[in-house]
Amino acid sequence: MSDNSGFPDKPSPARMYDYYLGGKHNFEIDRQAAKQVIAFYPDMPYAAKSNRAFLRRVVPFLSSQGINQFLDLGSGIPTEGNVHEVAQSINPQARTVYVEIDPVAVAYSQQILEGQKNVASVVGDVREPDTILNHSQTRSLIDFKQPVAVLMVAMLHFITNDAELYRIVRAFRDAVPSGSYIVITHSCYFEGVKSDPTVDKVESIYAKAMEGLKIRTRDEVMPCFEGVELVEPGFVDTVIWRPEEPQNNPKWSGYVAGVARKS
Ligand SMILES: C[S@@+](CC[C@H](N)C(=O)[O-])C[C@H]1O[C@@H](n2cnc3c(N)ncnc32)[C@H](O)[C@@H]1O
Repeated sequence: MSDNSGFPDKPSPARMYDYYLGGKHNFEIDRQAAKQVIAFYPDMPYAAKSNRAFLRRVVPFLSSQGINQFLDLGSGIPTEGNVHEVAQSINPQARTVYVEIDPVAVAYSQQILEGQKNVASVVGDVREPDTILNHSQTRSLIDFKQPVAVLMVAMLHFITNDAELYRIVRAFRDAVPSGSYIVITHSCYFEGVKSDPTVDKVESIYAKAMEGLKIRTRDEVMPCFEGVELVEPGFVDTVIWRPEEPQNNPKWSGYVAGVARKS
């Protein structure tokens, strides 16, 4: 993943996202790719911030439903309002396992989590659910007999094959007991749109990154919620998923969010 100089030789989606959020954990190669995306899609930083704000809202919702175990898949580089911080501010006993494919993001997470209880950060690829579910750190923090929230936030669009997408979500859904929640946000086309030159450009930039990107229609993502029940307001743009304040004419973020309970 790095050239002989020790710097990464490909942009990383984790670090590009960090750049959109205004973070400092990115390299020149990530910034260049992120700036290309922003040139085609100037609302990208707004979209990333809206997604992150959703994440900060959904954890208190899950806690209010009695959830105190969080498996955060594709957790990215730690930033303001990390899952374990929000969860532990509500229930100090809440346990969180962060799983991330980018080793730079995991190294940084482990550095800032050092010495903290009830939280771990591990390298993992969601395409290998069994490895993640059986990881010693996962097993030491998550009791799979008790409800778990599986967070797949702004991550599944990096699984470009549809069959693989559904297989992954099914595997995690099947591993958690009744009362658990599946949380998904996914980059989607505007309602009713099925192709868009801007999307093609953005996907072509990510095609040269560590992970490719596939923006989907809402209908293409909906099978991810098979066997679980979406809570209100359903699978909707992140900005209108239970906003803290009523939204008049909210601006579409492009990240669509759904929170579903397993009965
Ligand atoms: C856009 S970031 C989202 C970070 C965080 N979930 C959030 O919403 O703020 C997506 C993350 O998914 C990670 N990712 C992509 N493909 C992955 C895979 N196959 N397994 C694990 N993580 C992956 C990326 O490295 C990146 O950090």
